Order: sequence, then structure tokens, then C-alpha cells
Amino acid sequence: MIPIDLSGKTALVTGVGDNESFAWFIAKALQAAGARLVFAVHPRMIRIVEGFLSGDSPDDVASRKLPYGGGSLTVEQLLPCDVSFDTMADVPEVTRNDRRYKRVEEQYGDYSIEGLMKTVKESHGGIDILIHSIAFAPEIKSKLVETTRAGYWTALSISAYSLTGLVRAGLPLLENRPDGASVVGLTYLGGVRVVPHYGGGMSTAKAALEIDAKQLAHNVGSKSIRVNLISAGPYASRAAKGIGDIGQMIDYAAQRSPLPRGIKPEEVANAAVFLCSPLASAITGHVLYVDCGYNIMGV
Ligand SMILES: NC(=O)c1ccc[n+]([C@@H]2O[C@H](COP(=O)([O-])OP(=O)(O)OC[C@H]3O[C@@H](n4cnc5c(N)ncnc54)[C@H](O)[C@@H]3O)[C@@H](O)[C@H]2O)c1
Repeated sequence: MIPIDLSGKTALVTGVGDNESFAWFIAKALQAAGARLVFAVHPRMIRIVEGFLSGDSPDDVASRKLPYGGGSLTVEQLLPCDVSFDTMADVPEVTRNDRRYKRVEEQYGDYSIEGLMKTVKESHGGIDILIHSIAFAPEIKSKLVETTRAGYWTALSISAYSLTGLVRAGLPLLENRPDGASVVGLTYLGGVRVVPHYGGGMSTAKAALEIDAKQLAHNVGSKSIRVNLISAGPYASRAAKGIGDIGQMIDYAAQRSPLPRGIKPEEVANAAVFLCSPLASAITGHVLYVDCGYNIMGV
């Protein structure tokens, strides 16, 4: 049997907003393979995620069940991080004074990328796996031609630059790990082809993310860090529901894909575990489509 054994590895997982997030399924699969988990959650979502991690309703308990009979999801550390901010000096007054951000600052202190990496260094020493599963475009429902400059920059900052920001600040934690480190991000076909409904600069952000992942793979390869992306097919997560016509997008792709169905989040999670495992030790700078083959179709 070929083993995937991530025991002893520390995985920093961003992008868990609820128990339907891709990152939630990725975290469960990483833990089923033995990894320790640290979650970095948007400051506004931290209480909600705490609820999903500790709730005792049958649905909550079922959603924490690890695949492959591996027990129940356990997170060693839950930390706030708004990836818009590299340091606390970047946080505008209005955000700092926001009720929920204030509460998070009182409880955790720093919620910038710098603060996140500092805390993880103190508690875990290093990171073997970094999952980037974050996207936001305030004007996603606007066509690109209607998108404001501010909306466009926000989409790029949160959905694309954040990968660079995390790798940049996390470099001392990621470099020269015993079996190398693996960074995995999530992208979408809308970054290389025109997908109506994927506006507000989000398509641009995914295009940027894809070339950035390749640049980063080159920049950090000599430090034994691999950087790859999964291009997932459409799936009705919270972020995707914000697009508007996600149900229609899922049906359309399912009808035209070589495997004529929608994807499951568990399938994205399995691909992430593979990319984080020694089985993918020579794979870097790659975009792996987990989309039932939809991307190969011409019509
Ligand atoms: N759902 C799909 O159809 C689909 C398809 C392909 C790729 N993706 C990508 O998968 C990734 C995860 O999305 P998802 O579908 O699981 O939705 P999701 O809403 O569950 O996850 C998006 C996450 O981004 C986080 N986030 C947004 N702004 C942030 C910020 N400033 N700082 C920190 N975190 C922030 C949110 O809190 C949320 O947890 C995204 O990159 C998305 O583009 C999704």
C-alpha cells in the first residue's frame, strides 16, 4: 500500500468560514492523514467557526467527522487573521474601531499576517503545510466593465496578493522543513476563461493568483517549498452563493463535463492532501484541475 502519512506535520489552514468551506474539508482530510491543525480565520468569522468546532448538535458532530474513519476534527489553535493587513499598522481606524474587530483585538491582539506568523512560530516553530483558501470581491456581482477601481483593488489584495503576503511573512516558518513544505491555494477557471457572473475583478484576481503561484514556486523552490493551486469546479459554498447564479453554474458544468456531475468538496480535499504529501514531491508551480474535466471542453 502507498501510505499518505502527515503525522508530525503542522498545517496552517486559512479560509474556514463555516463547515461547508473547501478549507473545512481540506482540514479534515489533512487531519485524517495525521496533520496537526492551526486555523487562521477572518476576525469576523472567528466566533462562528468556534461554534462549528465545538457545537454538539447532531449536524455539528457529523460535520466534524474525519474521512476514512479517522475520528473527529480537532484544531490545536484558532487564530484571527484578516489577510488585507500585512501588519497592524495597515489597519484603518474605522476597522480598528469596528465592534467585532475590537473584541478580537482585545482577546487575541494582533490579527494581521505578521501577527499570525509570529504566534504560529511561538507555538509550533514551523509550518509544513499552508492552505490558502480565501477570496473576496465586494463587487463580484458587477461585470468587469462596471467595476470600480476600489472594488478591483480589494479583490486583488484579498484574493491574490494574500498568497504572496502569507508566503512572504511565513518564509522563516516554511523554509527547509525536514520533508519540505507545501503551499496549496484554490483557484477557478474564471481566471483563464470568461465566466459570466465572475466579475468585480475576481477573474483578474484568479489570473493573478495563478501566475503568482508559479512565480512563488520559482522564488522559494530552493528552500524546499512547493507551491501549487487546485482549480476547483463550481460548488455552492458561502462565497460562491454570493456570486448569484451558482446553482446554474453547477448544473451547466455538470451537463457538459466528461464526468457528467458536479464536484464534491471531499474530492478537492483529497487532491489537496496529495499535493501536500511526499507523493507530490516533484510537483510545484502546477494548477491541478479538480472539476470533473470541465476545463478541457470547447463546447
Ligand atoms: N466554491 C466554488 O465554486 C469555488 C470554485 C473554485 C475555487 N474556489 C475558491 O475556493 C476558495 C475558498 O472558497 P469557498 O468556496 O470555500 O468559500 P468560503 O466562503 O467558504 O471561503 C472563502 C473564505 O475566505 C475568507 N476571507 C474572505 N476575506 C478574507 C480576509 N480579508 N481575510 C481572511 N479571510 C478572508 C472567508 O472568511 C471565507 O472563510 C476561494 O479561493 C475560492 O475562490 C471556490
